Amino acid sequence: MNTIGKPTTVVLSAEEIAGIVARLGAEISRDYEGRHPVLISLLKGGVIFLADLIRQVTIPHHIEFLQVSSYNGSTASSGRVKILNDLQVSIEGRHVLIVEDVVDTGMTLAYIVEVLKLRNPASLEICALLRKRIASPAGIPLRYLGREIPDQFVVGYGLDYRENFRHLPFIAAWEPDPTR
Ligand code: PRP
Repeated sequence: MNTIGKPTTVVLSAEEIAGIVARLGAEISRDYEGRHPVLISLLKGGVIFLADLIRQVTIPHHIEFLQVSSYNGSTASSGRVKILNDLQVSIEGRHVLIVEDVVDTGMTLAYIVEVLKLRNPASLEICALLRKRIASPAGIPLRYLGREIPDQFVVGYGLDYRENFRHLPFIAAWEPDPTR
């Protein structure tokens, strides 16, 4: 039984997300024409976004997955990024686009960008669905951004609270009950 409740304060509806994803897919298709990019999804949160995004990308491309973790089940970034599962292919000479669900402190992306740069891709850019407005962002340049949101914990559309709520078709604010 699910005893942790249900988020109700919608930050982005399914319809709004679909519109954003369509726009991003069109921009990527235009910019990467003839470059056969590899889109790298950061698991687990980025998987829903990637699945929808690639169906809006009309040019040939590959997909890859990188599993990293920084929250460790908490609602605040731990500041320590770990690679749990690495890419299955070399990205040397490839045009790489990292597909990320949410940029909070930016520490995850800062770390991943440094790691992937060492593998000599032809280019390396980031597409993020959400960026939180926080006091001290890491300043990672995002080539593509879906939407800026207030600095609050959000779940749904791949984003979780202790592995829950990833399945929700919308994105909602969530304040965990510390007694549960
Ligand atoms: C979350 C989120 C981003 C990252 C953002 O992942 O999906 O990858 O944290 O935080 P940052 O900008 O402060 O680094 P999480 O570590 O929770 O793993 P998950 O995707 O498996 O849920």
